[in-house]
Amino acid sequence: NNSTSGSVTWKSPSNIALIKYWGKKEDQIPQNPSISFTLEACATTTKLSYEKLEEKGEDFSFDLFFEGKQKDDFKPKIITFFKRVEKYLPFLKDYHFTIETSNSFPHSSGIASSASGMSALALCLMSLEKELNPALSDEKFNCKASFLARLGSGSASRSIEGDLIVWGHHKDTIGSSDLFGIKYPYGVHQVFKNYHDTILLVDKGEKQVSSTVGHDLMHNHPFAQQRFLQAHENLTNMQSVLDEGNLEEFIAIVESEALTLHAMMMTSMPYFILMKPNTLEIINRIWKFRETSGTHVCFTLDAGANVHVLYPENEKDTVYPFIQKELLKFCQNGHHICDRIGFGAKKL
Ligand code: PMV
Repeated sequence: NNSTSGSVTWKSPSNIALIKYWGKKEDQIPQNPSISFTLEACATTTKLSYEKLEEKGEDFSFDLFFEGKQKDDFKPKIITFFKRVEKYLPFLKDYHFTIETSNSFPHSSGIASSASGMSALALCLMSLEKELNPALSDEKFNCKASFLARLGSGSASRSIEGDLIVWGHHKDTIGSSDLFGIKYPYGVHQVFKNYHDTILLVDKGEKQVSSTVGHDLMHNHPFAQQRFLQAHENLTNMQSVLDEGNLEEFIAIVESEALTLHAMMMTSMPYFILMKPNTLEIINRIWKFRETSGTHVCFTLDAGANVHVLYPENEKDTVYPFIQKELLKFCQNGHHICDRIGFGAKKL
């Protein structure tokens, strides 16, 4: 029986939200819907080896290796994840697992690995589930993988497939759910094919605010309800933008979302400024260049100081030289990652 022992490896990407998820309820239920570009270059590769135990264990049994080294400080996160998903994967305590994981992007680059890492692990567990239950359809496999990934890290629910993913119930997005991400179900203009995301590493330090703390700041936040409403409206407006390829409107929504995310942190109690002087310098230079070049380069941000520079494929010969010449000097050691829109996780 090949489910007694074996191994499976998945490579799962990161993603960048265009409309941000910030604020959640119990059980990783988002306060508002979000939409993201799946990335291609930034990814986590995870190999899960499993061996059936003689007797069901009382605790989860696993070893964890990160980039070849045993990593016990990551274990509590995995235990929390296993506890949350156990009722959906009742076989978890029947096995001893060895989890070997590595990232394509440098460690402590300030790039969050929770989306790629948690989605990769969820997919590995789903492969074992599929061994035990071969009738599972591809559609159900992806849906449950996203559901499990969500329980690891909300944004990880958007990393299973590509190239555009919606997570969170939204009245104008058919099939959308708070429980898992879905492929964006409507038409997308050609201009968004192979869209670029050049990630500028402004600050590689440890995150000042963990996303758990960050989401909590939205409880009792004075502007929370208005923000959640705005995200719904932005997603509705984004649909015609994506359909028509209206880049001016696209830029307006995406940049406003990035600044709103940071505004929420600046206006919470306690309050945080996660941008650095170089973040603002980069934003100002992007605005100036956009005005003078007639290109459609824009920025978005995660919960940190790094800048994601977004631009269409047909402008890369103008925009990338500008990035090299004018923006890389504001990155730590010129460090950046050339990424682009991707198509989701792959089984290796
Ligand atoms: O997945 P979490 O809980 O780490 O939340 C991440 C939220 C943001 O990255 C800031 C925004 C988003 O939608 O990805």
